[in-house]
Amino acid sequence: MKGLILSGGKGTRLYPLTYTRAKQLIPVANKPVLVRVIEAIRSAGVEEIGIVVGETAPEIKEALGNGQAWDVKLTYIHQVSPDGLAHAVKISRDFLQDEPFVMFLGDNVIQGGIGELIRSFAASDWNSQIVLKEVDNPSAYGVAKLRPDGSIEQLIEKPKDPPSNLALVGIYMFDHHVFEAVEAIKPSKRGELEITDAIQWLVERGYRVYPHIHQGWWIDTGKPTDMLEANAHVLEEVVPSLDPSAQIDEQSQVDKRVTVQAGARIVRSVVRGPAIIGMNAVIEDAYIGPFTSIYHDVTVRDAQIERCIILEKSEVVGLGRGMILRDSLIGRHARVGRSTELPMGVKLNLGDYSNILI
Ligand code: TTP
Repeated sequence: MKGLILSGGKGTRLYPLTYTRAKQLIPVANKPVLVRVIEAIRSAGVEEIGIVVGETAPEIKEALGNGQAWDVKLTYIHQVSPDGLAHAVKISRDFLQDEPFVMFLGDNVIQGGIGELIRSFAASDWNSQIVLKEVDNPSAYGVAKLRPDGSIEQLIEKPKDPPSNLALVGIYMFDHHVFEAVEAIKPSKRGELEITDAIQWLVERGYRVYPHIHQGWWIDTGKPTDMLEANAHVLEEVVPSLDPSAQIDEQSQVDKRVTVQAGARIVRSVVRGPAIIGMNAVIEDAYIGPFTSIYHDVTVRDAQIERCIILEKSEVVGLGRGMILRDSLIGRHARVGRSTELPMGVKLNLGDYSNILI
């Protein structure tokens, strides 16, 4: 079994962060989503992984290298433009050869491992296994209609009148028959080769496509609110730890469910978990509330924050006690502060597509 991770695409819904950064490298609980995906595939025993990359290839390669750090062998597969998930499969044929494979979207976070899934597929005579999840708003997703024997009868993209509440999650398993499908299908109205069309093609030709219904949480980190939600879920599952080189002074209160990484300094502050404070971060005269991830080299001073992700080398300073920064995703090298100039007002220096609520 091989692995295929899709990490091309533009990430337009996460602008402005993704102007300058591949969305799959944005950390959730201080670990990039893409690294979480590699670890999930590796823990299922799969060591050979292909990564489909687009225009953000250089930074993805820089972050992951040859995969040795995760005990996997990575092969990069270049996709000139994001022409669809089935297109990504099509261009990966040389890497995949005729071996069955698991395909994982590089921006999805799922609860629990995928070992059991992979084992059941490897032991079956199925041609494909897809992962489904019961959702409240199926019209927003690709939706599956099942036959009485539990196999897939039909997949419908964003149906107005959904036949079930089972949405497609970004994990798929295929054998080599999928290559016939991706060669045969035509681009959809939005100009992409759709994986749902490829799977539908398999179903219509009598190939055995079965679902696995996932019971835990699953998040497609497309939008900032999804990132915050994924961060909250993952933080709840992190086993907290305190690096011996971290410093916490006696005037600070740090909850048990807080992870403090190497070289971080917490001074006269309250930190309530679940939360993570990154390497060499400085938290001073501050309140850090639950579900917050502070990344490496961040400073939070004289400020209160809750349910936020703050990325590397940013500063939140001088907001005082009268306000709380909450439910926010702050990029790298950003600065949030208080102005002392008159007249009092709000001064903004924002990148394109920024979103501010005052
Ligand atoms: P999407 O979230 O569907 O697309 P996107 O990354 O372009 O995001 P947006 O809609 O905000 O512009 O992609 C899911 C994952 O698959 C993501 O990790 C990018 C990857 N992908 C590819 O590698 N190749 C492709 O052709 C497409 C469409 C996506």
